[in-house]
Amino acid sequence: MTKEILNEAKEFIHTYYKEANKPEEQLMQRLHEIEKEIHDFGYYQHTYDELDYGAKVAWRNSNRCIGRLFWESLKVIDKRHLNTEEQIFEALLNHIHYATNHGRIRPTITIFHQKTEQHSVRIWNHQLIRYAGYQTEDGAIGDSDSIAFTKECQKLGWTGNGGHFDVLPLVIQIDDRPPKWFEIPDEFILEVPLRHPDYHWFEDLQLKWYAVPIISSMRLEIGGITYSASPFNGWYMGTEIGARNLADESRYNMLPRIADLMGINRKTHSSLWKDRALVELNTSVLYSFKEDGVSIVDHHTAAKQFQLFEEKERNAERPVTGNWAWLIPPLAPATTHIFHKPYNNEIKKPNYFYQKAPY
Ligand code: ARG
Repeated sequence: MTKEILNEAKEFIHTYYKEANKPEEQLMQRLHEIEKEIHDFGYYQHTYDELDYGAKVAWRNSNRCIGRLFWESLKVIDKRHLNTEEQIFEALLNHIHYATNHGRIRPTITIFHQKTEQHSVRIWNHQLIRYAGYQTEDGAIGDSDSIAFTKECQKLGWTGNGGHFDVLPLVIQIDDRPPKWFEIPDEFILEVPLRHPDYHWFEDLQLKWYAVPIISSMRLEIGGITYSASPFNGWYMGTEIGARNLADESRYNMLPRIADLMGINRKTHSSLWKDRALVELNTSVLYSFKEDGVSIVDHHTAAKQFQLFEEKERNAERPVTGNWAWLIPPLAPATTHIFHKPYNNEIKKPNYFYQKAPY
């Protein structure tokens, strides 16, 4: 166990000192320090600079992410010292506020206490801001992806409004204590009501989405150390909302209604009603976010940015790894360069990993 941490630590520190051009003596000194710390306590503490670099490189190594060009711009907020649920709640509100930035979204990560044998911090939410899902007799209401977590929140005493877009509370657990839940005050939640540049009926659908996707269920692993609570965000690519969240049959399933309002024949697949409805839904997402001054990227621009990332990495002599099935956008994939080449899906560390749900 400690042997493994030490090996991972060595590899990480070596890469960091090399990439940061730090002198050899300092490297040796730091390695000794870490070795002693692991020997005495079983773990070691990252310096702020190591944490900052590790979180950024974990993004750089995220094979499924098309947005990695911006990995160096990640703002790393160190909250490792917090030890009450209330303090952590406050730090999460702070994250939401800083990252949202009135729509000019800033890629941000907040890192809480590292996981040890004795200690663990978990945020039960999949994302800090997400809509509840309710199972009813005539189908799901809201985001069906959230049904299991919504039930947990209700068990803890939260009562949702039973609407399509109820923002879930934050659920924070420290060690084996019972989790505590906190409602996010409305003023922290930026949302974009959807409308369409040509179809005025579009707003009658009363669709909307929140501005900032802040993943909070994954763990960050740096040099053998795990941060089990380390919520991070970028900004949305339009298709995540327009071609998946609002379109998937198992999510908000909006394509049939949009096709009907467009007056397209749904009796035959060959009318391409799904494709045509998808394009207009995605047009509406990009149009509405842009008009409201909320950061978003279309999939063509994102693919170009990813191409630039690949070029930069090649120049730095770091082979790019990637997961093709995730990198291609769900709309018009073959119009991007990504579709036409293979990617090596090898997992490098530091990285962000799934972890078992705490409920
Ligand atoms: N696909 C997820 C969602 O629709 C968000 C994943 C992270 N996306 C991002 N652009 N950073 O909510």
